[in-house]
Amino acid sequence: MAETPSQDTAGKSTNGAKVRVRRIHRRDVNRVWEFLKHVFRDVNKDTVEYQRPRSKKRFLEVYEEEGVEQLLFELEKSTIDGKPSKESTIVGYAECAFEIVGSDSWMNQRYFDNREMRPLFVEELAVHPGVQGVGVGSFMLEQVEHIARLRGCTHLVLEVAENNANALKFYRARSFHKLDAAIFMAKKIANESALLPPRRLKKRPPPSPPGQLGRASGTPPSVDVRRRRPQ
Ligand SMILES: CC(C)(COP(=O)(O)OP(=O)(O)OC[C@H]1O[C@@H](n2cnc3c(N)ncnc32)[C@H](O)[C@@H]1OP(=O)(O)O)[C@@H](O)C(=O)NCCC(=O)NCCS
Repeated sequence: MAETPSQDTAGKSTNGAKVRVRRIHRRDVNRVWEFLKHVFRDVNKDTVEYQRPRSKKRFLEVYEEEGVEQLLFELEKSTIDGKPSKESTIVGYAECAFEIVGSDSWMNQRYFDNREMRPLFVEELAVHPGVQGVGVGSFMLEQVEHIARLRGCTHLVLEVAENNANALKFYRARSFHKLDAAIFMAKKIANESALLPPRRLKKRPPPSPPGQLGRASGTPPSVDVRRRRPQ
C-alpha cells in the first residue's frame, strides 16, 4: 500500500527520485483523502472560500463516478530517501473530469458551448508540501494535458483562489489565463453596538447618624407623637 510522506521525509526523499503515475484504486481512497487534507490545510487558512477537499462523502462519490480521472503520483519504491523501500510514497494527486460534476458546482456549461470549447475540468491538483517546487506539479499538469489531447478537449479549465499566490504563479507561468471575473467583495458596515455603553451610577446619600432612622434605612422620617402641652 502507498504511504503518505511526512513533511520532512518527503522533502529529503526527492533527490534524483522518480515519480510515476497510476490510477487510484479503492484501497487508496482513505489515504488520498488524508493526503488532500494535509496539502490544503495551509491554503484554506488564507482563503475566504474553503478550497479543498470538499467533503469525504463527496470524495467517495467521485470514486464511483464515470468520466472522472483520479491519478496518483508516487515516488518509486526503490528511490525513497535514496534507499530501497518496500512502500511507494504519494506525493501528488490530480483529478479531472470531462463534464461538470457534482450538484454543488456553479459552473455554466453554456459558457463553453457558446464558445465551442470542450474543456477538461481540472478538479484537483495537489502536491505534498514537502516536495513542492521540484517538478511534481509540472508532471501532473503535463499528464492532465496529455489526457485532454487524447480525448479531443480544447482547454483545461480550473478554479483557483485569487489569493492562492503559489498556485496562480504556477498556472500563469504555464499559459493559463483568467476566464471569468468572479471575486469576493466586502464592505465594512458602520454600525452601532446593540448593547449600550457602560453607565455611571448615582451616589448614595450618606448614612444617617446612629440612633436616628433615616430614609436611607427605608423607614419614613421620624415623627414626634408625644402630645403637646396646651399653651
Ligand atoms: C500549485 C502546485 C500544484 C504546484 O506544484 P509544484 O510541484 O510545486 O510545481 P512545480 O515544482 O512543478 O513547479 C514549481 C513552480 O510552481 C510554483 N510553486 C507553486 N507552489 C510552490 C511551492 N510551494 N514551492 C515552490 N514553488 C512553487 C513556482 O512558481 C515554481 O515556479 P518555477 O517553475 O518557475 O520554479 C502545488 O504547489 C500545490 O499542490 N499547492 C497546494 C495546493 C494547491 O494550491 N493546488 C492548486 C489548487 S487550484
